[in-house]
Parts: sequence; structure tokens; C-alpha cells
Amino acid sequence: MNTLTFPTHEELSQKVAELVFESIQKKLGEQGTFILGMATGASPKRMYSVLVELLGSSKLDLSRLHTFNLDEYYPIKQSHPKSYFQEMYTRFWKPLHEKNPTFEIPNGHILSGECGNPNLECRIYEHMIKSLGGIDLQILGLGTNGHIGFNEPGSPADSRTHVIDLAIESREANKIYFDGDLDKVPAQGLTMGIETILEAKEVILMVTGNGKEDVFDKLTHLSSPTSKIPASFLLNHPCARIFTDIPKL
Ligand code: F6R
Repeated sequence: MNTLTFPTHEELSQKVAELVFESIQKKLGEQGTFILGMATGASPKRMYSVLVELLGSSKLDLSRLHTFNLDEYYPIKQSHPKSYFQEMYTRFWKPLHEKNPTFEIPNGHILSGECGNPNLECRIYEHMIKSLGGIDLQILGLGTNGHIGFNEPGSPADSRTHVIDLAIESREANKIYFDGDLDKVPAQGLTMGIETILEAKEVILMVTGNGKEDVFDKLTHLSSPTSKIPASFLLNHPCARIFTDIPKL
């Protein structure tokens, strides 16, 4: 996989935001719609604020820009301050709509952590992505255990959007958002599957943040995918790139 290394998180975030902006600008013009796949968490946080500035101050008509998030905790209320729904609403959908009202908040899609039938919710999500023409560009972060979305180690290559039991490493990594209390971190998640992610036309994996050195080192030394490191399935993608601020060991 092509890997681009940046000296700082800020430079990495700026570059990714510019690339995403250019891709949206180009494809909105050519195909009329753009479907952006999004991750939550610390890795893309700064990139999103730059992207909101770029899209917000542009004259682009964003009425046919749709965003689809990778995952959500399950169960969790959308109103919960740490739900991924709230994170996207406050970090991206709302500020973008305020700066450029052609972006419509209902075009920001996320799996519902409070749905009654999670399997049906996952099937409907897949259907929505397909009916809009598929994901043009998918943003990913890397978990310390190698997960992408909530596809934990052991996830199969042919998985579609599904319910998953969260790995203990993922719940440990995220407990800082739940008063440091592991018991408050939901036990499950809803996530796009590996195959769903690999169907995106282009993928950007942002590898940034503490504690990722080991897994990143393993990932970059693999020549073929292993379900032990779900991010390694990206080796099978024709247009997946890594953007990182972790220097080569
Ligand atoms: C979040 C997601 C996760 C994170 C990963 C890295 O929507 O899909 O796979 O991208 O756990 O998290 P951060 O960026 O917080 O280090």
C-alpha cells in the first residue's frame, strides 16, 4: 500500500482534507453526487475541521453530498453525548450546514444505536449505500488492535454491515470517553463490514495517535492480508493509501 508520511498531525490532517475536498469538487461536477465514508475518533478530528472550512467557504452546491459513517456503538441513544451520532452532528454535519446551507443534515447517515432490530438496520444501511451509487471515498482510522470500523481481529474478509461484540482492547481504548469506566462502554457495535469497506472506490487510512506503532509496523511488513489485523485487508484494494505521522521504525 502506498504510504505517505508527514512530520506532524496538523500537516497530515491538512493534506487529507485538501485531497477529500478536491475529490468532492471534481466528482460532484462530473457525476452530480458524492458519497463520503467517514470514521469518528481522534484520527480524523482535525481533518474534519479543515474540511468543514474548505467546503463551507466554497461555492459548491453540496445538496447531493452524502456522508455515511462506518460504525456506531450498540446500544446507545443518539442523544448520548458520546454516541458517534453526536460526534458527527457537532463536528461535521451541523457546522458544515451553518457555513454552507446547501449541505443538508439529513444527508449525514449513521447506523442507529437505538434501533430495535439491528440486523435489519444493517441491511437497510447497505441498501442505502448501494442505491446512492456506492462510497466514492472512505476515510478510516486504525485501532491499536488493527481494527477498521469495528471490524475486530478475526473478522472475515467477506463481512457486510453487521452487529459485532467489541474487543476488550477497543472498549479499553474508548473508555476515556465514558468517564474512564469500562462498564459504561457499550458491549457491541454496528459496523460496515470488511467487504463493504473494500467496495469503496478509494480509501484513505489515517494512522496517527499514540499506541499505534506496533500494529502499524506489523501492517507495513505484511505481504498478504490476515484477519488478525483487519486493516491488512486493504492490501487487496486497488486504491487504498496510508497517511501517517508515525516515522518508519
Ligand atoms: C471509529 C472507527 C475506529 C477508529 C479507530 C481509531 O469510527 O471506525 O475504527 O477509527 O479505533 O480510533 P482513533 O482515531 O480515536 O485513534
